[in-house]
Amino acid sequence: MKKTLKDFNFKGKKTLVRVDFNVPLEEGKITDDTRIRAALPTIEYLTRQGARVILMSHLGRPKGQVVDSLRLDPVAERLANLLNQEVSKVDKCVGKGVKETVAKLRDGEVLVLENTRFYPEEKANDPEFSKRLAELADVFVSDAFGAAHRAHASTVGVTAYLPSVAGFLMQRELDALGQVMENPEKPFVAILGGAKVSDKIGVIRNLLNKVDYLLVGGGIANTLLAASGYEMGESLVEEDKLELAKELIQEAQESGTELVLPTDLVIADQFSNQANYRVVPVDQVPEDWQSLDSGGPETLQRYTGIIKQAKTVIWNGPIGVFEMDIFAKGTNTIAAVLAESNATTIIGGGDSAAAVKKAGLAGKMTHISTGGGASLMFMEGKPLPGVIALDDLA
Ligand code: 3PG
Repeated sequence: MKKTLKDFNFKGKKTLVRVDFNVPLEEGKITDDTRIRAALPTIEYLTRQGARVILMSHLGRPKGQVVDSLRLDPVAERLANLLNQEVSKVDKCVGKGVKETVAKLRDGEVLVLENTRFYPEEKANDPEFSKRLAELADVFVSDAFGAAHRAHASTVGVTAYLPSVAGFLMQRELDALGQVMENPEKPFVAILGGAKVSDKIGVIRNLLNKVDYLLVGGGIANTLLAASGYEMGESLVEEDKLELAKELIQEAQESGTELVLPTDLVIADQFSNQANYRVVPVDQVPEDWQSLDSGGPETLQRYTGIIKQAKTVIWNGPIGVFEMDIFAKGTNTIAAVLAESNATTIIGGGDSAAAVKKAGLAGKMTHISTGGGASLMFMEGKPLPGVIALDDLA
């Protein structure tokens, strides 16, 4: 168990808070502020307690350089609107000017530092840079579950120099994901989609014997189907992972988990919303066509039947190219069945979270993680560096 916000008296304390404000931007505008909203309970608690709040986050992948379009100004502005309070922002993370601004903060005020990834030292988890960040504050709060799989200066490095506790979002994510991975109510069903089996090998292995059913879709299913001997035409198949896919199928057969693959697919003659498309059984994919949605009607009937029996469902990765309407049916159907289900439903972050939101069903799920890579690592059963680094409860 890690220390949390309730284990520290924040009154008058300079409080460095790592949040994950890595939000999608289009032409400088935030297109989805879920991650900012998700951090509000921690920020509001801290301001109410009289903390002097110093927020830091990365945004995008600027590769250790200043990239103007990735400055945190729009984020600070949105945060001010959401908090209904003034939020100041500086153009750096460390240095004299930042220290001076911090020194002027009063209890309950909020300051946003610049994008931490403008500094190469951030990803290098550089001790000197970590120390300079830590020197700004009296205590560190990590609320950045989405970045907890990264051992960077702002997620791990600073913990060497400051008392370090988990924020409410971090706690909520760890509780929700921990509960289903450690103590799931059965039947426990996992749905895994996404483009590549190589991204999910660790997850598949960790879930074998834990889940009763592992339903597979998307590019992962294509590779597993190809490994089972089906001709997949032009479908995305990881040729160099076919042997591994065969091993996974073998391991599943020897486990207590039923690995379920699609039996029919929505195929298309090109990767486009204007493509010709039709449903075929998995053994009838023509040479020059490709599967873009694993949710053929027979597959969906089988998958929804299994999901309806479940008491716990964890879902990571869409089962088709849901961004194109004609290939969204499988993913949308899964989202709709989960929304109606009484089971505990946990949605891994990233694309599956986006699909659920696009379908307008976010409010119907038990928990939607704000972490893509972080929730995957958690599902792999691996400890997250940004969590291990926090102080343990005595
Ligand atoms: C995410 O978007 O998953 C997190 O913010 C981590 O971002 P990263 O993959 O660039 O480290």
